[in-house]
Amino acid sequence: MAISEQWDNYVVEYEPRLFSTHELFGNDNPLTVEIGFGMGDSLLEMAIANPQRNFLGIEVHKPGVGKLLHGVAESGLTNVKVFCHDAIDILAHCIGAGCIDTLLIFFPDPWHKKRHNKRRLVQTEFITGLLPLLADAGRIHLATDWEPYAEHMVEAMEAVQGMTNANGAGQFWPLPDRPGTKFERRGIRLGHGVWDLLYIKR
Ligand SMILES: C[S@@+](CC[C@H](N)C(=O)[O-])C[C@H]1O[C@@H](n2cnc3c(N)ncnc32)[C@H](O)[C@@H]1O
Repeated sequence: MAISEQWDNYVVEYEPRLFSTHELFGNDNPLTVEIGFGMGDSLLEMAIANPQRNFLGIEVHKPGVGKLLHGVAESGLTNVKVFCHDAIDILAHCIGAGCIDTLLIFFPDPWHKKRHNKRRLVQTEFITGLLPLLADAGRIHLATDWEPYAEHMVEAMEAVQGMTNANGAGQFWPLPDRPGTKFERRGIRLGHGVWDLLYIKR
C-alpha cells in the first residue's frame, strides 16, 4: 500500500478541537498516548500485543510516522492513530477530560546543555496541566538514558500534586514493562544507563 494511502487511514489531521476515542477508533477501549514515538518501534510492538487497547501516537518527525504506518498497515492494526503535529497543541486542544489511561514519554530529547534544560518536555507545570486528561488511576510512564534528565524527571514529577510514584517516592522503576526503542538502543551502545519512572493519578 502506498504511504499516502496509509497516511489517510491512520493520520488524523490536527484541528484545535476535541476528538473522542470513539470518533478516532470506533470504540471506547482504554487509550494509551505516546508522545514523541520516534520511529515507532515501541508503539507498534505494544499495539500488536494489546489489541484490546487503543494507541494514539504523537510525533512531529515525518519519516518516523511513515515508518510506523508501514508497520501498522503490514500488521493490519485497527487500534492505532497518529497525529503528526506538536504534542503540546494536541494535548491542549484535542483530548477530552479523563480520556487517557496511559501516557508514555520514552526518551524525550535530553537537551544536554544547561542553558537548554528548560526546553525539556517533562516539567512540573506541563504534567500538572495534563492531569485532567488522565483517567482515575491513569498512568504516566517516563524513560530516559540521560542521568541528569532522569534526576530532573524525578524532581519535576514528585512536585506534581495528584500523582504518586508507583515505586515509592523518588524511586525509579527497576523492571519496566515496555518494549525497547531505537533511541534507547543507541544510548546503550554509547554506554548510557536507562531510567524509567511510573506515576499513578490518585
Ligand atoms: C530522542 S527522540 C526519541 C524517540 C523515541 N521515543 C525513541 O525512544 O526512539 C525524541 C522524539 O520526540 C519528538 N518530539 C519532540 N518534541 C515533540 C513534540 N512537542 N511533539 C511531538 N513530538 C516531539 C522528536 O521528533 C523525536 O522523534
